[in-house]
Amino acid sequence: MKGIILAGGSATRLYPATICLNKHLLPIYNKPMIYYPLSILMLAGIREVLLISSPRDIEGFRGIFGTGERLGLKFSYAVQPRPNGLAEALIIGEDFIKGDSVCLILGDNIFFGHGLPALLRETVRSMKNQGGAYVFASNVQDPERYGIVEFDSKGVAVSIEEKPKRPKSNWAVTGLYFFDRNAPEIAHAVKPSGRGELEITSVNAKYLGKGALHVKPIGRGFAWFDAGTHDSFLEASKFIATIETRTGYMVGCIEEIAYAKGWITKEALLEIAETLKKTDYGKYLIRAVGGEE
Ligand code: G1P
Repeated sequence: MKGIILAGGSATRLYPATICLNKHLLPIYNKPMIYYPLSILMLAGIREVLLISSPRDIEGFRGIFGTGERLGLKFSYAVQPRPNGLAEALIIGEDFIKGDSVCLILGDNIFFGHGLPALLRETVRSMKNQGGAYVFASNVQDPERYGIVEFDSKGVAVSIEEKPKRPKSNWAVTGLYFFDRNAPEIAHAVKPSGRGELEITSVNAKYLGKGALHVKPIGRGFAWFDAGTHDSFLEASKFIATIETRTGYMVGCIEEIAYAKGWITKEALLEIAETLKKTDYGKYLIRAVGGEE
């Protein structure tokens, strides 16, 4: 399975903070926002990652991740010339996906919860066995802002709408999507919505129409943020700070995950830690492999 992170857009809802900075490079507490969605792909066991961003910002990401080798990953980069919608990522990434299944994650989505790695692994397994599409739904208080899924009494998804004026439920579809090999072809057939975008919700709706959209509600044990507004950005930062300070474990620490997965050696991790040793982040990495600070 391949992974795509979509980190484009102009983030006008975060202006003036993002006038000349890509929002996914801004820190959520102590690390760039982009680390969090990348950590989700890594926890799902995905090592081939395509990062899509705007022509202005793509080099910034290349500067951070390079070839990906430092994390035991293989990174590719592609440009989305204009913010034409999330479904366009599947078209831009078509050659990269090359008939494989794909996990698409939005660069501003942050997930935290007990059992998340197991949930991701289980989803990858189901995808391999059954195909179709897998998405996650989270209960929200402002459903007009999201893709909204409606369930019948048996918990089966019956409708999905993008930013509905009259939402049929409070179940928002999060920005983490698993698609089988048919996704690029489906995305090609999507027509621009009223707001002129190729909506990922339209791709999901096509899977739903074929009876192939699997929606997993993520319950009370999970926290999901899309750091797209000033308030949700701060909320996410405060949440991560609280969890990390209280538990002593980091959230979204990509080097720690790469090491735990056996994708990089202890020496490689210590080398990275050495460059960060003035920070709590660097000290944490050293502790993670039982080294001395
Ligand atoms: C996008 C999707 C929406 C989804 C949301 C999750 O919205 O279009 O369906 O619920 O991401 O973060 P946007 O962030 O583009 O407003």
